[in-house]
Amino acid sequence: MTTKEKIERLRQRKAQLIAGGGEQRIAKQHELGKLTARERISLLFDPDTFQEMFLFAQHRCTNFGMAGKDLPGDGVVTGVGTIQGRQVFVASQDFTVSGGSVGELHADKICRSMEMALKSGSPLVFINDSGGARIQEGIDALNGYGRIFYRHVLLSGVVPQISIIAGPCAGGAAYSPALMDFIIMVEGTGELFITGPQVIKQVTGEDISAAELGGVYAQMSSGVVHMVARSDEEALHLCQRLLSFLPSNNLDDPPNYGTGDLIFAEDTFLNRVIPDNPRDPYDIKDVITRIVDDGDFLQIQEHFALNAVVGFARINGQTVGIVANQPAVMAGVLDIDSSDKIAKHVRFCNAFNIPLVTLVDVPGFLPGVQQERGGIIRHGAKMLFAYSAATVPKVTILLRKAYGGAYLAMCGKELGSDRVAAWPTAEVAVMGPEGAVNIVYREDIKKAADPKSARDEFINEYREQFANPYVGAARNLIDDIIEPKDTRRYLSLALASLRAKQELRPQKKHGLIPM
Ligand code: HXC
Repeated sequence: MTTKEKIERLRQRKAQLIAGGGEQRIAKQHELGKLTARERISLLFDPDTFQEMFLFAQHRCTNFGMAGKDLPGDGVVTGVGTIQGRQVFVASQDFTVSGGSVGELHADKICRSMEMALKSGSPLVFINDSGGARIQEGIDALNGYGRIFYRHVLLSGVVPQISIIAGPCAGGAAYSPALMDFIIMVEGTGELFITGPQVIKQVTGEDISAAELGGVYAQMSSGVVHMVARSDEEALHLCQRLLSFLPSNNLDDPPNYGTGDLIFAEDTFLNRVIPDNPRDPYDIKDVITRIVDDGDFLQIQEHFALNAVVGFARINGQTVGIVANQPAVMAGVLDIDSSDKIAKHVRFCNAFNIPLVTLVDVPGFLPGVQQERGGIIRHGAKMLFAYSAATVPKVTILLRKAYGGAYLAMCGKELGSDRVAAWPTAEVAVMGPEGAVNIVYREDIKKAADPKSARDEFINEYREQFANPYVGAARNLIDDIIEPKDTRRYLSLALASLRAKQELRPQKKHGLIPM
């Protein structure tokens, strides 16, 4: 064969491989509103920066008529490129090739990309569109998933790992995303479950559709999914936006978009945000968007545990992790799900050098038999653990209620908060005035000529004496009491002064976060 012929042969083979499962299957993918693996990659990366790796991988399975069957790229496109100028590795499963199922070589391509992401300190994006373990390859397929899981854990806390669920993901295809940091799911086409409806029907007799079982609404409310997109395009855009807040690895700082000047803009709206009646709700997102750069707040798990709000924003160009109670939902109380949600966010931010800003308006942990039976002690303890273990800068703002264990769990001073500022509306106490007077003044209220007005008086007295920020400030548990309008100024200066914060902890293999 001449050199010219060899080059021509290469061209043909490449074209064949790049065509994936062929026109018909690609058309079916498009009919379903899905992009192909390669279309997704070209939208994800900066133009002309993607370098593919292992295009020529071929399975070596001979079972079930697989001998000699051509599976282009073995059903996954892997490689590296840049997103907003920063290097990212990708695995994008090709559903047009054997349903994106994971065989030995398919898994090997993903594992090698993961290893390079680890070595070069680059994030990993995994676009899932797969029928799971390739049935014909048996144990080799299972083994492949085992290798992928193992590497997710090696990468965990070293480089950010983002999963996009852009098709059916069953079995291993569900556990791999679960081991990553964020799951973005496409509404309508994304499905995520360990076992599908048919198996469930067989085992338990329950009848359920795939969408009801593992669709976006089901997996958002289960807390598995972190962000929802209406299309592949939106999912890829969300992924880019998320990456813009994150460092490439745990030794890097997140990209800083600031000019170096601190912007202190006062916001008098904040002086009016807390209602006069302490029982009235308000939307904490109105506060968050007023104190961060350009009102730009990327919320994580927006539709799960709505009584807590977590996400990413910037203050003077520097990424911060926001954790807040949401007084507009269940008065912002902490329960099992919100504890899990907050603890996970705190752990992620700490692993990736992202300072934490905590906004507190919490009436306590939710009392109730169901919560106790569900292990609120174990789940709430995750917050105490995560905040105490976090060594990134931690700034806490007490807006209104900060009661009991929940006050501590929301990064109170003694959990290592570097700055605690309180608004004058803050009420820091063991419990709310209503509950407290019922215990402390029970006899006095009973004996009073007019028990109701006596109780009201005791409540006022308690609020004046204890449920305010001045007692905490007198004990140095609150660094300062500030006007709400000056919150951004306070955060700007505090974060700037904490930029070089270092905190050393005793050497150990790892702590034991309650699970
Ligand atoms: C081999 C598979 C496959 C698989 C799909 N295909 N899943 N091939 N192994 N796991 C192939 C089909 O044969 C078909 O090939 C092509 O992909 C498209 O599949 P369709 O069924 O035509 O597509 P659709 O109707 O859209 O249904 C998609 C699906 C369904 C819901 C994913 O294919 C399905 O239920 N697949 C099996 C899912 C599953 O149970 N996986 C094993 C999970 S266990 P052709 O050649 O016709 O295009 C697991 C264990 C891991 O993953 C361990 C974890 C702890």
